[in-house]
Amino acid sequence: MKILVIGGGGREHALVWKLRQSPRVEKIFVAPGNHGIGESAELAPIAVDDLEKLAAFAEKNRVDLTVVGPELPLTLGIAEFFQQRGLKIFAPGREAARLEGSKAFAKEMLRENKIPTAAFGTFNDAAASKKYLGELQPPYVIKADGLAAGKGVLICASRADAEAAIDDVLTRRVFGAAGDKAVVEEFLEGEEASFIVLTDGEHILPLASSQDHKRVFDNDEGPNTGGMGAYSPAPIVTPEIHGRVIEEIFKPLLAGLKRRGIGYRGTLYAGLMLTTDGPKVLEFNARFGDPECQPLMVRLKSDLVPLIEATLEGRLHQVAAEWHDDPAVCVVLTAGGYPGDYAKGKEIHGLDRLKDWQSGAVFHAGTVKKDGRWLTNGGRVLGVTARGRDIAAAAAEAYRAVEQIHWEGMHYRKDIAKRALK
Ligand code: AMP
Ligand code: GLY
Repeated sequence: MKILVIGGGGREHALVWKLRQSPRVEKIFVAPGNHGIGESAELAPIAVDDLEKLAAFAEKNRVDLTVVGPELPLTLGIAEFFQQRGLKIFAPGREAARLEGSKAFAKEMLRENKIPTAAFGTFNDAAASKKYLGELQPPYVIKADGLAAGKGVLICASRADAEAAIDDVLTRRVFGAAGDKAVVEEFLEGEEASFIVLTDGEHILPLASSQDHKRVFDNDEGPNTGGMGAYSPAPIVTPEIHGRVIEEIFKPLLAGLKRRGIGYRGTLYAGLMLTTDGPKVLEFNARFGDPECQPLMVRLKSDLVPLIEATLEGRLHQVAAEWHDDPAVCVVLTAGGYPGDYAKGKEIHGLDRLKDWQSGAVFHAGTVKKDGRWLTNGGRVLGVTARGRDIAAAAAEAYRAVEQIHWEGMHYRKDIAKRALK
């Protein structure tokens, strides 16, 4: 079969890497991809939000299945757009994707279905939001409702900072239309985990657990990023917690979606805070996490294609996902300055030394090849993902590979997966 993968980051490279191993797959296109992904798939220079061109491409090239990586096309309704043209697509529909596209909607669904989450209020008025702060203890969490590329969550130590954040979102509109509404919520203490499942709306196939590292510096310091590294499995997700997440979060959520007449076929990601009161939902994503997808694909033993087909055909209860026992660790290499301003076009050295690397894969997120040289072309540049007999060995292997690579200003965290070793 021919597959079209939409997106162009490390997540999509990992998906392509995995799909290429399927005996069912004869050809993979990626739109727009990046030059690193282009080494193993054919690139189509189409933006992820250009639904017309994407569908026309899929029709013209007789694509059998389209797999969507990022959130933007999901919230634009790419699923319906393709389905109306008779094109098979692995992507939840527009209404379902609102779980990610609107934090206010996600919170409404959580409340409606009595799913554990932080106490909150939703506001379109700055004065009312500020008043609600009086019902909470510091630190305060202020969120822009809509998509804000991972930047729409502001954690404020003092009430004055929280009021300023509310003004940023609702009055100064620093997040544009994403700030039509603000969610003001209680700060939750605990350790985070990413819990990603495939669901056909009825059945749930949990993928292996994982943990992201959101802050840019070691020891979880500095601003939030898209993710600086990830490992799988996350030992903190014990069998007991796993069971609670399914029973207390995913089952009531799917039941609640169904009651509203919203189907869900695709990947569903719950960002969790594991508190002393049990797992609570921080956010939902309607897609694979990035970088979490990288260790997950490296660990997935089963062919991904039949799992996707079972999701689309509503028979997820008939399939199982097999995993390599070996844990995997992904270290993200970024441009210095990210998530703030950063330079592009720095020459990347050392990738050739990892060409025949057997214990992992280097996934490209923000690279470009010019005159035979690899240059940086984004904030997150590479995801160096390794397997090992335990988490310590996988991390050591990933860092050994990282040491082969360098460019001017390259930054990465030195403590990825350390928490799992405690
Ligand atoms: P979100 O996009 O909602 O997952 O928020 C991004 C990050 O902000 C999360 O991964 C957490 O690290 C942090 N965060 C969000 N909401 C809360 C909360 N209620 N309490 C503590 N931290 C939070
Ligand atoms: N790594 C977090 C995310 O993909 O949203």
